[in-house]
Amino acid sequence: MKIGIFISGTGTNMAAICRNFFENRLTGVDEISFVLSDKKNAPGLEKAEKFGIKTIILPKKKDEAKEDYETRLLEAVSPFGTKLIVLAGFMKVLGTTFLSGYEGKIINIHPSLLPSFKGVDAQGQAFDYGVKVSGCTVHFVDETLDGGPIILQQPVFRQDDDTNETFKARILEQEHILLSRAISIVSCGNYSINGRYVLVGR
Ligand code: GAR
Repeated sequence: MKIGIFISGTGTNMAAICRNFFENRLTGVDEISFVLSDKKNAPGLEKAEKFGIKTIILPKKKDEAKEDYETRLLEAVSPFGTKLIVLAGFMKVLGTTFLSGYEGKIINIHPSLLPSFKGVDAQGQAFDYGVKVSGCTVHFVDETLDGGPIILQQPVFRQDDDTNETFKARILEQEHILLSRAISIVSCGNYSINGRYVLVGR
């Protein structure tokens, strides 16, 4: 299956996917067709170029309507014929204009155990709340914020001497593993959905 990756920032999740792909550890994926960033200076772009992957920079224009931006996004990615789009630190919430073109074909990594701590800085929200365990989630993307059916989750326990930064770093380490596992599951069609429940391995 051909996949595309959307990023907004550092792109460490994207780089982990690329590493797994080029080391033949990403079952079901034949090609990473592009890495798209909505931020011109996202450090992840350089990482993608080092892997030799085509990069696309597509920022939202000032005052541009969400629908118009998403139409441009669709136009930019549809020529690649990718069957799966992976949001790897893409910080825009996609609406129906984009989603209608890729229903059930977009997955996202979020740095908390959803449905807890949706939105930005989920790790900081969890840390400040004082949770003993948080983690990361890969889920299908629908029109709700961080709300689509969950594919995989990985708990990460907070240690007493964790700072916000160390907790975040240990969650990120697990994200790098979890996202590639989820990509392979979806690419191989190794799942079924029963209501909101994603049954892996059927
Ligand atoms: C990751 O922690 C990812 O889970 C998070 O942004 C970070 C991107 O890091 N995404 C979200 O918060 C989406 N709601 P990266 O650019 O180094 O992969």
